[in-house]
Amino acid sequence: MNNILTDRHNRKHTYLRISLTERCNLRCTYCMPEGGVALSPKSHIMSFDEIYTIAKTFADNGVTKIRLTGGEPLIRKDITVLLKKLASLPVELAITTNAVSVDRFIDTFKAYGIQNINVSLDSLDADKFKQITRRNYFDKVYYNILLLVKNGFNVKLNAVLIKGFNDNEIIDFINLTKKLAINIRFIEFMPFDGNKWDMKKMVSYNEIMNVVNTSFSEDKVNRIQDAPNDTSKNYKIEGYRGSFAIISSVTNPFCDSCNRLRLTANGQIKNCLFSAKESDLLTPLREGKAIEPIIQNAIKTKLKIRGGMDTIEKLQKPELHTKNRNMTTIGG
Ligand code: GTP
Ligand code: 5AD
Ligand code: SF4
Repeated sequence: MNNILTDRHNRKHTYLRISLTERCNLRCTYCMPEGGVALSPKSHIMSFDEIYTIAKTFADNGVTKIRLTGGEPLIRKDITVLLKKLASLPVELAITTNAVSVDRFIDTFKAYGIQNINVSLDSLDADKFKQITRRNYFDKVYYNILLLVKNGFNVKLNAVLIKGFNDNEIIDFINLTKKLAINIRFIEFMPFDGNKWDMKKMVSYNEIMNVVNTSFSEDKVNRIQDAPNDTSKNYKIEGYRGSFAIISSVTNPFCDSCNRLRLTANGQIKNCLFSAKESDLLTPLREGKAIEPIIQNAIKTKLKIRGGMDTIEKLQKPELHTKNRNMTTIGG
C-alpha cells in the first residue's frame, strides 16, 4: 500500500468515514446541542462530484472500506445516485443510520452491495426513545431494523448508555439477540462540544459487564473473536443467535489498532474522532490543487491516543474536549 496512509505509529488507515450531511431528522440529546447546531453554508458542503473525487483518491491510495455517516446520511437528496457512484469504487461500502427512512432504501442497498448497516437505537421503550431523540419515531425505527434483518443485512445496533436513563435496558437489549442475529453494541458516552458530558453519566465497560454477569452465569457469556480493527469487544450468550459488544473509548481506548480517518461534510479531514485539528481538503480541491500531500500531512500528525487526550483526566477537561466539533457534524 502507498504509505501516505500510514502514520508515525505504523497504523495503516484503510477505513474512511465520510459524513454526507450535517443535518439530521432526529435531535438526540447526547449528540446534538439543545439549540441545534450552526450548519455550514450550503456552498461549503461537498457536492456529489467532490465526494466521489475525494473518495476515489483515498481508494487509489489504499482505503478499502468507506462508511457513510451524517448527521443522517439518508436524508441527503442525492443519496441514491451517490451510493451508486461510490459503489463503483473497489471498497466495502457501509452506512450508519438512525433507520428512520431505511424502508425506502432496501432495494438500493441490495443493488449496490451495501451489506453492513449500523443503526443507532438507544432505547427499546418508545417513550424513552422520544425523550432522547425528541421525535416520535420508535415504531418506525424498530420496524425498519426488523426489515433489515429479514432482508439479510448485517445489522449492528448502537446504544449509547446514559446512567439512570437507559442502563436498566442492558439485559433487554441482550435478550433481543436470542432470536435476532444482530450485534448490539453498548457505547460508553463520550464528550464532545455541546453534549453536556459528565463522567458520572457514563456507563463503563466494567459496569456493563457486572450487569451482564448478574443475569447470565459466567459459562454462558462467551468472549468471541473481534474483527480486525474493531472498535468493540464482542460477546455472545450461549445458544443466542446474535451477539453483543462494548465500545469503550473512554475507559479502554483501542487507538493502537486504529485504521480510521474522517471526512466531514464540509470537506475537512479529521485524523481522529477526538482531534480538534482539521485539514481542509475542499478548498484546495476546488482550486485544482493536489490533495494527496494534505492527506499525507494530516495522517503524519495523528496523535497516538484520542487526539492527545491520552488519559481519562485529560478527556474530562472541558477546555480540551469542547475544542472538538459537536458529534452531529463529525458523524461518529
Ligand atoms: P464498524 O465499521 O462496523 O466497525 O462500525 P464502527 O464502530 O466503526 O461505526 P459506527 O458508525 O457504528 O460507530 C459506533 C460507535 O463507535 C460510535 O459511537 C462511534 O463514535 C464509535 N467509533 C467509530 N469509530 C471510532 C473511532 O475511530 N474511534 C473511537 N474512539 N470511536 C469510534
Ligand atoms: N458518545 C458515544 N457515541 C455517540 N454517538 C453519538 N454521540 C455519541 C457520544 N457522545 C454515536 C451514535 C451513533 C454513532 C455514529 O455515534 O449513537 O450510533
Ligand atoms: Fe482512532 Fe482517535 Fe478513535 Fe483512537 S480515538 S481509535 S486514534 S479515531
